[in-house]
Amino acid sequence: MTNTWLKSAVFYEIYPNSFMDSNGDGYGDFKGMTSKLDYIKSLGCNAIWLNPHYDSPFKDGGYDVRDYFKVSSRFGTEADFDEFLATAHAKGIKVILDLVPGHTSEENADFLRSAESTPNEMYDRFIWTDDPWSCPQGFKNNSGRFDRHGSSIVNFFCTQPALNYGFNRVDEPSWQHSYKSEAALKTREWLKSVMRFWLDRGADGFRVDMADSLVKNDGEQSEKPATSEIWRDIRAMLDSEYPDAVLVSEWANPQAIRAGFHADFMLNHHANPYSKLARMQDEKGEGISYFDANGKGDAQAFVKSFTDWFEQTKNDGYIAHITCNHDTPRLAPRYSQEQLRLIYATLFTLPCVPFIYYGDEIGMKYVKDMPSVECGFNRTGSRTPMQWSMEKNAGFSTSDKPFLPVVNDKQINVQAQEKDKKSLLNFMRALLAFRKTRKEFISTDLEFVHAKGEEPLVYKRGGLTVVVNPLNVKQVAPVKVAPKAKAIFAVGKEAKPSKAGIAAPPLSFTVFE
Ligand code: GLC
Ligand code: CA
Repeated sequence: MTNTWLKSAVFYEIYPNSFMDSNGDGYGDFKGMTSKLDYIKSLGCNAIWLNPHYDSPFKDGGYDVRDYFKVSSRFGTEADFDEFLATAHAKGIKVILDLVPGHTSEENADFLRSAESTPNEMYDRFIWTDDPWSCPQGFKNNSGRFDRHGSSIVNFFCTQPALNYGFNRVDEPSWQHSYKSEAALKTREWLKSVMRFWLDRGADGFRVDMADSLVKNDGEQSEKPATSEIWRDIRAMLDSEYPDAVLVSEWANPQAIRAGFHADFMLNHHANPYSKLARMQDEKGEGISYFDANGKGDAQAFVKSFTDWFEQTKNDGYIAHITCNHDTPRLAPRYSQEQLRLIYATLFTLPCVPFIYYGDEIGMKYVKDMPSVECGFNRTGSRTPMQWSMEKNAGFSTSDKPFLPVVNDKQINVQAQEKDKKSLLNFMRALLAFRKTRKEFISTDLEFVHAKGEEPLVYKRGGLTVVVNPLNVKQVAPVKVAPKAKAIFAVGKEAKPSKAGIAAPPLSFTVFE
């Protein structure tokens, strides 16, 4: 692993629309973010992941990039962005940007050029079929909007045309290019030019959107050989030209690390370890993961799948653990603030690079049935503005019409929690500060000692032993720790070594040395 700073990085994810509005127009912006850098630092974070900040018509929250070389004027000027970056760096905070490699906005100039009726230099930059009248099997497409004779393949929403990185298996040679074709290689070089542009400007790396989506007909998520080949080529470019830059993928599969990513998000996909730990629900919506206090989860299932993932990746990269993200329901109100502490403590004391989604440090809640804005759909409820205080719009904006309704909550705001020693906010600070004091947590030493149903989960990080009890009742883990073992960090009441093992109080988390 060439990169060093990632090892001790703790990220804060900012959804720029929702963080802090400096000019009262109802949208968050660069100046607003700059004004809150000290706050982010005070949490113990030393890195930021910024959701898309590019020029965009915002038909998918900015994941539809119109101009890859320009910032969105919604968030301020080019100079405001540079100031944000420079100020973050001056405070010792790295900033990674969101790279959207697979698709552009339908308003992207290169795409519009490719959509013209006669061939031109952009004709092969995007994937187009050669028949406007039929729909190719296995793809989402758009036809009847442009005069080019064919239909455009889209990656996600119909506003997001797929860039042409080629196909691994070519079924229809009349319009599908090999991923080794000249056209596909040109797209790859264009992507490198986008990356160089932002790295030269000071960015510290990228979170890569839908990283596994580049090459079509490329097999299972856990394989994707041609897509992986492209990323390894890009990683080689970084290693030689920008050795400090990092790539964090939205892939959610150990294959991402084999493809050259420094880290990969473990998302809440079905059957993923993270789901088993805190995200799984049954058909009726009842929680059935380990941290659901109804006793329906299974620590063993988590441990088995986590171990498999970790073993495949630990020598070459990191797993990124998230409290949540802009696509995922927040953990609150499903979990109480007490439970959130246990979850955060467990997630971040397992081997990982921590990512805190803005507002999770104060327990902001997923807002049900929020009317969709900019195609957030059900994701909109996780994107409500940051709750800073009890002022107008929770201190987020002075506008009479912020872009999303704001929740004003007496307890769930930064100002109130700053004052309260026992708040979730101050807990998060203590947790991250504690994590930082112990090298064990950023090592690859991990041994699961006990994992059975809803019984306490016990694991070792080097000489430290961690005991978690997710239930509302006292439980004893049949595990011996030295009678002199000292509890050095705890959530709730400390667990105690006893004759039968370790007695863990209800809803508790203890680290023994
Ligand atoms: C990723 C993003 C999501 C976006 C999608 C399409 O999953 O996280 O917000 O809608 O890609 O770019
Ligand atoms: Ca603004």
